[in-house]
Amino acid sequence: MPDVREFSRPGAGSRETTSDRQRGTPAVSWISPHRRHRPQIAHILEEAGAFRPNEVDVALEVFDAYCDAPGVDYSAVAAIAPEDELAGFAFYGATPCTVGCWDLYWIAVSSRYRGSGLGRGLIERVERAIKAEAGRLCLIETSSRSDYEATRRFYSACGYDEVARVPDFYADGDDCVIYLKRFADPQSPLGRE
Ligand SMILES: CC(C)(COP(=O)(O)OP(=O)(O)OC[C@H]1O[C@@H](n2cnc3c(N)ncnc32)[C@H](O)[C@@H]1OP(=O)(O)O)[C@@H](O)C(=O)NCCC(=O)NCCS
Repeated sequence: MPDVREFSRPGAGSRETTSDRQRGTPAVSWISPHRRHRPQIAHILEEAGAFRPNEVDVALEVFDAYCDAPGVDYSAVAAIAPEDELAGFAFYGATPCTVGCWDLYWIAVSSRYRGSGLGRGLIERVERAIKAEAGRLCLIETSSRSDYEATRRFYSACGYDEVARVPDFYADGDDCVIYLKRFADPQSPLGRE
């Protein structure tokens, strides 16, 4: 695990830097990623080993769509370590044809940085952005495969509940597991907190 705790990015300007040092999270800048980060995003997706090549292609198409029109269909947040190293990223967006439901489409952390709190940092920033848009729900779809068990534990640790399964969705024996976090009180008149 690289020690970047003393990292202070020159020229980071108004970018937010992590305040999580007390719990050992690497000091990174939290930014909206730029097109120049595409090769690093591809590398993180490929090294994860869990994604089929066509899934990597789809994730990169989402990133391209985000770069073309940030915040329209897709938004993104990234954790940047020294030397502009992309340590992790998340893509998310409002779910079409819903009122206040958002999807976390992709989240991945470089293998160098896993287990150091960056995944949680990314998801917390996604949730903050969703709440700022009066989002009610954040939905995540993932695989039931055994190699996704750590990912499912991560979602549970971040407060997401398994709410549904679609059997054999991705392939025979590979269900789609749907996780959900609710930000709003469904009893309130506006369905908001
Ligand atoms: C899933 C992933 C994003 C998690 O990121 P991370 O930086 O390693 O996770 P964090 O260190 O922030 O961990 C956050 C919480 O999840 C839990 N967690 C993370 N990895 C875990 C694992 N392998 N087993 C059990 N729990 C785990 C931690 O215990 C932690 O809980 P705590 O804060 O209460 O201690 C990262 O492992 C990853 O990129 N995996 C490969 C890509 C992937 O599967 N992406 C999701 C599908 S799109």
